[in-house]
Amino acid sequence: MTRQFELKELIRSDNFIDGQWCAAADGARFAVSDPATGTVITQVADSSPADARAATDAAARAAPAWRNLLPKERATILHKWNALIVANQDALGALISLEQGKPLAEGRGEVAYGASYVAWFADEATRIYGDIIPQQQRGKRMTAAKEPVGIVAAITPWNFPLAMIARKIAPALAAGCTVVAKPAEDTPLTASALVLLAHEAGVPAGVLNLITASRDHAVATVADWLEDSRVRKITFTGSTPVGKYLARESAGTLKKLSLELGGNAPFIVFDDADLDAAVTGLLASKFRNGGQTCVCPNRVYVQAGVYDKFADMLSRRVAELKVAPATDPDAQIGPMINIRALDKIARHVDDALAHGARVLAGGKRLPELGPNYYAPTVLADANHEMLLCGEETFGPVVPLFRFDDEPEAIEAANNTPFGLASYFYSQDLRRIDRVSRALEAGIVGINEGALSSEAAPFGGVKESGYGREGSKYGLDDYLSIKYLCQGNLA
Ligand code: SIN
Repeated sequence: MTRQFELKELIRSDNFIDGQWCAAADGARFAVSDPATGTVITQVADSSPADARAATDAAARAAPAWRNLLPKERATILHKWNALIVANQDALGALISLEQGKPLAEGRGEVAYGASYVAWFADEATRIYGDIIPQQQRGKRMTAAKEPVGIVAAITPWNFPLAMIARKIAPALAAGCTVVAKPAEDTPLTASALVLLAHEAGVPAGVLNLITASRDHAVATVADWLEDSRVRKITFTGSTPVGKYLARESAGTLKKLSLELGGNAPFIVFDDADLDAAVTGLLASKFRNGGQTCVCPNRVYVQAGVYDKFADMLSRRVAELKVAPATDPDAQIGPMINIRALDKIARHVDDALAHGARVLAGGKRLPELGPNYYAPTVLADANHEMLLCGEETFGPVVPLFRFDDEPEAIEAANNTPFGLASYFYSQDLRRIDRVSRALEAGIVGINEGALSSEAAPFGGVKESGYGREGSKYGLDDYLSIKYLCQGNLA
């Protein structure tokens, strides 16, 4: 029978190294708070390089036995982990909502989403095929075999505190790698709970190690992994500047990297679009997690012929969205993660207004709910002078840009260093073919706003990073190819 935990049993405040919960080596701690109220939930270990080193030592000791398990033995453990995550969906969902702020329904949804990666990679563990290369010379056999890349350091963001770490750890473990992980300082509790369940599922001591660190300690702590030649891979989801820093600083030991970085997603609505579907798709993709996702549309381009109608349809629906704490069962948008996030949103909106935008919905903080709430916002007459055109707002703001023809829309959509997700709505089949090829992005939503799936390759191009998570491709990032050349055969 799969064990079910109470929420309070899932809350851990120590590091998890070599199968043990332990305080930071120097005993330091930092506070984790509920973004809805600012109330401190608990004080967790504030790690230093000594803790990072201890985690790597444990991962190195555990590596030979883990990589030598049969793939189906690793798969069995991952399936148990998945079953535990699913069985604890309510408590995990509540924990996500508590430390991250997303509405409870979204918190529970994230648990299912994260678990789907664990189940997927449990199955994929048993399908790590190599190749027998067609014979080139008599008496010689050439084979390409796949091997685990080695110790993986996973550094994960706060916006999906369960799903993002699950979709890094699951393929790493499936491939036969051992892991050291550091979750974001705003949301370490869900990651610790996930590790607790992995241990309960039978992941052996040292195979999965997790340390937590505050903003002040994170750089020095992670530097230990960047410099340690035993750590062979870094997998990171977060901002492009941090991704570039990790690539630079890990160059000394030439690690393999997967970087899922910032986006600045365009969402294009052509004159021939189904406008109801476009509004629904935009609401789903933009307001998921209050606009705090890397794939959510940041710039909405609407063709002149439908601009006013679309703006009207959209702003009516946005004005109806319910902003409330996660605990309110009707909440559709919760608090933003912290006051810095809120300040950035307010700065973008103020700057847009100063450059000629008009507020069609929202456009203000909601201090009556708490310091971290911002009203879902629609801005008309957006232009490329505005800060929100060049930078991700990462909040519930929809700027509407007007365009006249398809080449203008494509040029504007691609006019960014980023290339993670992009979206467009059209009912013209030839246009669908042209635009989907022209958009510079790793992911294209065509008449669809919900793109994420464990079965699909998630990742970007340009400065949105490289590597893919999920799908059959998601395992390759944790494997290296060994070429075996056997001679002197009869
Ligand atoms: C992200 O925001 O980085 C991930 C979103 C997703 O997996 O859908």
